[in-house]
Amino acid sequence: MIVGDIFTTTDDELLGPHKAFDAVLSDMAPDTTGIRSADQARSARLFAEALARAIRLLAPGGAFVGKLFQGPDFEDVRKQLTSRFADVKIIKPDSSRAQSIEIFLVGKGFS
Ligand SMILES: C[S@@+](CC[C@H](N)C(=O)[O-])C[C@H]1O[C@@H](n2cnc3c(N)ncnc32)[C@H](O)[C@@H]1O
Repeated sequence: MIVGDIFTTTDDELLGPHKAFDAVLSDMAPDTTGIRSADQARSARLFAEALARAIRLLAPGGAFVGKLFQGPDFEDVRKQLTSRFADVKIIKPDSSRAQSIEIFLVGKGFS
């Protein structure tokens, strides 16, 4: 297991002996400030980094799940997923509080 900051952990450190991953999952979220726009922007940055890692490290056909605080960039993010994954879904799990702005984007069938 690796414990580290996604912005400083290298692809090689994440991969270890593996050539690629079948799935990349990100539940990363920033420490919230209560300022919605700031929290959304920091969440978007974490999500973008997780998706960039998925695009570099997934095997063909692989899957990605990432948490995002829904904000103004949501539609752009969804389009990025649909450009690389055959099947994209937006999920709000029962375990996520109704008033929370968090959602999960799921992409299957990476190419
Ligand atoms: C909602 S919690 C996820 C908890 C996790 N699912 C668990 O069961 O431990 C959000 C997590 O995002 C992590 N996180 C925030 N910024 C990060 C970063 N730059 N690199 C790696 N993890 C980060 C936090 O450390 C925190 O553990």
